[in-house]
Amino acid sequence: MSKKILVSGIKPTGKLHFGNYFGAMRQNIMAANNTENDDYENYIFLADYHALTSVKNGDELRQQTLEAAASYIACGLNISNKAILFKQSDVSEVTELTWIFNNLVTMPYMMRAHAFKDSEAKDKEVNVGVFDYPVLMAADILIYGADIVPVGKDQKQHIEYARDIAGFYNRTYKVEQFKEPKDLILESTGIVPGVDGQKMSKSNNNHIELFSTEEDLKKRVMSIVTDSKAPEEKKNPDENNIYNIHKLFLTADEDKELRTKFENGGYGYKEAKEELFATILKWREGKKEIYDDLMANPEKILSILKEGGEKAKSRAELTMQKVRSQVGLE
Ligand code: TYM
Repeated sequence: MSKKILVSGIKPTGKLHFGNYFGAMRQNIMAANNTENDDYENYIFLADYHALTSVKNGDELRQQTLEAAASYIACGLNISNKAILFKQSDVSEVTELTWIFNNLVTMPYMMRAHAFKDSEAKDKEVNVGVFDYPVLMAADILIYGADIVPVGKDQKQHIEYARDIAGFYNRTYKVEQFKEPKDLILESTGIVPGVDGQKMSKSNNNHIELFSTEEDLKKRVMSIVTDSKAPEEKKNPDENNIYNIHKLFLTADEDKELRTKFENGGYGYKEAKEELFATILKWREGKKEIYDDLMANPEKILSILKEGGEKAKSRAELTMQKVRSQVGLE
């Protein structure tokens, strides 16, 4: 039986945060590190081509790509034959496939994409890269033959585009070349909230970074927005940002305990934030050291990415040989 393929990407547009971690990275790491289930491969990449839509500084992009890779490894991704970590741009075949797909999608179809519509609604000058973003994403999902794509809810439509484009291609060329991938979105972490309760994101500037300094981390946690209930008052945990972030780190028993503290009263917001800060520090134990060590020795990261890039490229090249022949380029 051929192995199942997982594909997931992360855009190196800034430092990674807990929305990225709980929304997608953790699922990827768990799948990649599961030694009992050996019937799939895991392609994880730093989507630097996608980042070009907004990052216009070479040094910044290089640095952020290293940081994103270091974060993945520090969070426990076990690099093996099962888990291939690489830079999207090391597989230039992805842009070739994007061009082929561009000729199968229409302008009105592309204009329905949320990200494009949002940018337009904000009166932004939308570059063609933003407009074509879902096609590039379809190419980098389909080129590896993805079965499953673990992502947060904000990427759901992009996976639908990938499925549609697989179908457009197969029907146009009367082949069974591309599988239709499924998204893997967990209900509990599909939309991780930020310090203001809105979806955590770099662009909302409400994010908590995975590996900021302890001082910055504390500042962020203490800035979580709450109502003005006094410490002794009873509180509904579900309506509370501190709880909604804290619960992500907890086991079922710990979660129950935390809920009770909020519900019983006598648990003030300052104390709740301090406990969340302590939980995050505990989560970072061991990981932050690995992250700092990798960032001090970028050649280690580069060599992992190079090896991963070569493996991913050889898989992509197999797909492209068939595609070039099917469309008549060869
Ligand atoms: P990006 O870089 O914005 O985010 C990376 C992953 O983190 C998830 N995520 C969240 N999940 C839950 N709650 C949040 N607040 C939150 N914030 C971010 C995202 O859903 C995503 O899974 N277009 C993609 C990158 C990409 C990709 C791919 C992903 C390029 N090619 C192929 C999968 C497969 C993006 O911009 O993700």
